[in-house]
Amino acid sequence: MDKIVIQGGRPLKGEIEISGAKNAALPILAATLLSPGEHRLSRVPQLGDVRTIKRLLEKIGARISEENGVCSVQVGEIENNEAPYTWVKTMRATILVLGPLVARCGEAHVSLPGGCAIGARPIQLHLDGLKKMGAEIEIKHGIIHAKAARLKGANIYFETPTVTGTENLMMAATLAEGTTVLENAACEPEIVDLAQFLNGTGAQILGAGTDRIVINGVQALHGSAYAVMPDRIEAGTFMLASAITKGDLLLKKCRPSDMVSIVEKLRAAGSEIEEGKDSLRVIGGKIRAVDIKTQPYPGLPTDMQAQFMALMSLSDGSSVITETIFEARFTHVAELRRMGAQIRLEGNHAVIKGVAKLSGAPVMATDLRASASLILAGLVAEGETEVLRIYHLDRGYEAIEDKLSKVGASIQRVKGQG
Ligand code: EPU
Repeated sequence: MDKIVIQGGRPLKGEIEISGAKNAALPILAATLLSPGEHRLSRVPQLGDVRTIKRLLEKIGARISEENGVCSVQVGEIENNEAPYTWVKTMRATILVLGPLVARCGEAHVSLPGGCAIGARPIQLHLDGLKKMGAEIEIKHGIIHAKAARLKGANIYFETPTVTGTENLMMAATLAEGTTVLENAACEPEIVDLAQFLNGTGAQILGAGTDRIVINGVQALHGSAYAVMPDRIEAGTFMLASAITKGDLLLKKCRPSDMVSIVEKLRAAGSEIEEGKDSLRVIGGKIRAVDIKTQPYPGLPTDMQAQFMALMSLSDGSSVITETIFEARFTHVAELRRMGAQIRLEGNHAVIKGVAKLSGAPVMATDLRASASLILAGLVAEGETEVLRIYHLDRGYEAIEDKLSKVGASIQRVKGQG
């Protein structure tokens, strides 16, 4: 296993290009299962999670090729309607093939995901929705067996807005008979991106990005060309890299309109931010203590909580970070403490007393965004930080060490030593 070694203390300066969004690419790749046509996708990031879903799609019957930055996917026939545990345990988002498989071929067998490092992560709302659309669902030996000759439109209310739940049912509903209405749907920009992709294949989806999505089912979908949206969490992570090192970074090919909560919180925390149409310049200043509460979109994303905690570790006062989405998303706390951060946990609150400096140490994390927060801490800590178990990082950040070293960080990947 590789590790990342950072010599801290260098302000980052220069330009970084933001990659396509992991959490948009995953559902869009799953949605290619809905039609036999060829899809030409650009800005699909080269990431561990994306490789996992591509391999699963190939097992299901997809032909996938890459040329000049375009990923071509065609699922002429569904050869195998299963997603066994081998895949699902590697990445929970493989559950996204459930809706498309049932819609396209009337039957799917997908291993039930368990919990993960950040919480129990139930998927009952995905299953309840499919049942309302007429699917017969049975769970046996840890596998979800779903069947429906043709799904039927239904009115579905989500008790809690769920991102992948909304995506799964939205995909399933595109080929259902009649109209499906999703109420209290999640509003994340990645859902809008998926809906735009699907509408480009002939689907009829209205209202994505609001909490009421209406899908008029059609008989068949076709191939298309689509560019995946920019990754707002990758962009947010680099914004905080600039803030924490008191640097000056220009992030290009991002979409500031998707990132208002992050931009405003970072401004309150002392950074100067210039917004362009598809760029953000972040000039780090004195780090001010601010309270943070994660919320569904348009609130501050839970996927930025760990990175903000690294920043608040160096603020000029005390701050409280409240995690409202996942019950166990604090695995970075103990590691940040090893670097000198003063953080106390009380239930879903972390109370952080800013310190003057962090000191480099060997650290590891058990989840993707937690690993990103350790990279941020390492960029500013005195001396050397080794971030171990970076396969988490590789699941969701494209070439992170290359991007950071080009803007002045001393960061290296050391092969086979993590
Ligand atoms: N929930 C339920 N029942 C369900 C489904 C969800 O109670 O059936 C609850 C969850 O327990 C949680 C809340 O609803 O409290 C929101 O969870 P959601 O279902 O929205 O999360 P997800 O779809 O599994 C996606 C992202 C996560 C991101 C969350 C929240 C993808 C592939 N994953 O997960 O991304 O944290 O939404 O925004 O889109 C990451 O990229 O690091 C990551 C974890």
